[in-house]
Amino acid sequence: MWWERGVVYEIYPRSFQDTNGDGVGDLRGVADRLPYLERLGVDAIWLTPFFASPMRDFGYDISDHCAIDPSFGTMEDFDALVAAAHGHGIKVVLDFVPNHTSDLHPWFQESRSSRESPKRDWYLWRDGDPPNNWIAVFGGRAWEWDEATGQSYYHAYLPEQPDLNWRNPEVREAMLAVLRFWKGRGVDGFRVDAMRQVLKDLSLRDNPPAAGWEGPDDVYRALVPEFTTDLDEVQEVVAAIRAEIGDEHLFMAEVTAPIERLVRYYGAAGEGAHLPFNFHLIGVEWTPAAIAALVERYEAALPDGAWPNWVLGNHDQPRVASRVGPGQARAAAMLLLTLRGTPTIYYGDELGLEDAEVPPERVVDPDGRDPERSPMPWTGAPGRGFTADGVQPWLPFGDAAVSVEAQEADPRSMLALHRRLLALRRSGDDLAAGAYATLAAGPAVLAYRRGTSTVVALNLTAEPATAEVSGEVVLTTELDGREGEVVPGALALRPGEGAVLRTSTAAG
Ligand code: NOJ
Ligand code: CA
Repeated sequence: MWWERGVVYEIYPRSFQDTNGDGVGDLRGVADRLPYLERLGVDAIWLTPFFASPMRDFGYDISDHCAIDPSFGTMEDFDALVAAAHGHGIKVVLDFVPNHTSDLHPWFQESRSSRESPKRDWYLWRDGDPPNNWIAVFGGRAWEWDEATGQSYYHAYLPEQPDLNWRNPEVREAMLAVLRFWKGRGVDGFRVDAMRQVLKDLSLRDNPPAAGWEGPDDVYRALVPEFTTDLDEVQEVVAAIRAEIGDEHLFMAEVTAPIERLVRYYGAAGEGAHLPFNFHLIGVEWTPAAIAALVERYEAALPDGAWPNWVLGNHDQPRVASRVGPGQARAAAMLLLTLRGTPTIYYGDELGLEDAEVPPERVVDPDGRDPERSPMPWTGAPGRGFTADGVQPWLPFGDAAVSVEAQEADPRSMLALHRRLLALRRSGDDLAAGAYATLAAGPAVLAYRRGTSTVVALNLTAEPATAEVSGEVVLTTELDGREGEVVPGALALRPGEGAVLRTSTAAG
């Protein structure tokens, strides 16, 4: 399938390109930047939600699943974007948010109107204030008391994001119809939000306390979410969503879980998601041993026929360049783009963009995620090419020295490295599809073979290191002319430097 060799690029549309000078990115802006994305070499864009929303969670609180929020444009803009993307050979993946709606969605308005409402059972209403000890992901009680009807409703996230009741067949049908609607408009796949949250324990058992937790007791981490996430029955909903999405459209699923639980989301016989997001690189200790152990554990856990995937950043996490530090950002990019499986690149990470500083008066996200959502810096102009000069963008810009314009002019830039890596992936079978095997190359170096004749060596330290590998250098992260260097058994790597080598024999 196209996504097996493909690379997905995540766009947070509010932050990508503003075309009407309101400081908020929009769908026309995404369409305007398709030539950039084509040149970068990505195969698909995943757009986070742009549906009608009061924006309490910036689009993950949907009030109409089949309408475009006016801040992003119109349905005509959307149709034009899909057509233009396809014209550039780029697939379009939408966000599907099954777990909850906005409290302003007509379904919830109806549901809360009375206990006898025909949609009362579409959400999770229970007696008691609160009915049990469950905590919301963003903190505080996961139950909101409704004075008018004398019951509480459950919300895994904000009180303005009531959870749908996926045990109700009408809810299922209504939500699966949303997938049909967007498939009918020509999209190529879906990224499904909060997949492991969609069912909760029917008898509302209390979640157990987290061992060793000493912080406040009303934060999510204070409890083990045993009865609110990843119930075995969730797999049945995953399969129902997959059956609707089908085999021709991509099904990516947001799943935060230990590897052994995560891989269940493929389905025992492939009836689940095509790509349950593998977020484990985000939290891994940045050492060769820890990363190699992670890759091996994941590779070993994958069910037959399951295709791997890797993520280094997204709109919910501090940016990778801030997490690992600028000195490791290039090695991180080489890692992401040379492991076996479909990578997802978070917009701006191809520039090495770091988290932006967001002064207290500019904070807008309820969960502190503004720094990684700063607008894409296209140029050095005051509006950074993102918005009109003189317009205040919805979030502050990051580092003024970083821009697409500046990096286009620099053949050694992070952007140039990403283009080279993506072109290299495309140029043969080894990186696109070849098997993975860890190589022993010295303590500072993560090294692995891909396929028959490609070796990757990454110095994950801030000191020079020697990689015990051989072959001929085809690309290094510094882009300063080491290509063609013949390595007879030891490759000198500078701090944070990585290299791809071609070996003449399978022995490497
Ligand atoms: C995961 C999304 O990535 C995040 O941004 C959102 O706040 C929650 N799900 C709730 O939809
Ligand atoms: Ca706009």
